[in-house]
Amino acid sequence: MNDYCVITTANNKGGVGKTLLSKTMGEYASIILGKRTLLIDLDPQTNLSRRFIDMRLLSDGSEDYAPPIHPDWSSNDKEWDGVSSSADIWFSGEAIPYPTDIKGLDILPAHAQLLADVELVNKQDVYLKVVRRLRDFLFLPDVMSSYDLVVIDTRPSKGPLTTAALHASTHIVIPSEMEAPSVEGLFGMVALRNNINIGRSRDEQLKIIGILPNKLQLSTQVHREHMELLTSDPNIAPYILPVNIGYRTDYKKSMYRDVGSIFTFPPSNKARQEIQEVCRVIFDRVYG
Ligand SMILES: Nc1ncnc2c1ncn2[C@@H]1O[C@H](COP(=O)(O)OP(=O)(O)OP(=O)(O)O)[C@@H](O)[C@H]1O
Ligand SMILES: [Mg+2]
Repeated sequence: MNDYCVITTANNKGGVGKTLLSKTMGEYASIILGKRTLLIDLDPQTNLSRRFIDMRLLSDGSEDYAPPIHPDWSSNDKEWDGVSSSADIWFSGEAIPYPTDIKGLDILPAHAQLLADVELVNKQDVYLKVVRRLRDFLFLPDVMSSYDLVVIDTRPSKGPLTTAALHASTHIVIPSEMEAPSVEGLFGMVALRNNINIGRSRDEQLKIIGILPNKLQLSTQVHREHMELLTSDPNIAPYILPVNIGYRTDYKKSMYRDVGSIFTFPPSNKARQEIQEVCRVIFDRVYG
């Protein structure tokens, strides 16, 4: 059976843990499950890309990042400038993933300015020019035979790039803080997913793996109240995962490039144990 999966991490609210979860799911899938995994960074902030490769700060004063020269490029290559990014899926149609330090884990990095241009597409052109392109790319025989799994990190918005990611996905996972802005975002994300499913056949429905409470401290009243609110809402409650992520500085640490994967932390490390269990539950739902 072909179990090729495309998982998008989405929540249109910022800072809820999308990039942390995308990074950690990619590492879990490649290191622990041995899956050939492709990470795709669709966020012009380039946060996920900077966790894995040495991105270039553009010298135009913009503070924007772009990918470095690809390790497979040679100066004899006259048809390629040596740089590839996720934006190439839309511009040239050919995108060449970069290897990471982790065996079996590649990344198609973001290019801040080119991705921002993709987002500028006219509203009426969104479906044909943006949304369909990513799906077509990810289901090319070449891509499907190179990878078992694709994990897409999105920006905090429901714009064309996030919509394209959802249209291209088999699964979605939604991290959320248990505070007002990100909880409000959940209803919109579930509605967007339901909308996408209108156009899909019964066996191709976009599945919600779950809503993952992040930075959760049940000793905090506002977190408890939001958990209660969600668990009593019949449209949301079935999606809340039976695991969550607490607020731990080791998660911040695991995002530094020189620290590397949280799966290199000692097995006794609480953050590692917690997020390993989260990944186990997530991938059980995907492959189980
Ligand atoms: N459980 C946690 N404990 C401590 N720090 C966390 C936790 N989860 C995320 N963080 C930190 O919070 C910040 C935001 O996390 P992250 O970048 O993953 O969110 P995001 O949803 O991708 O943000 P954006 O919407 O801007 O893309 C980062 O500095 C990250 O290291
Ligand atoms: Mg992010």
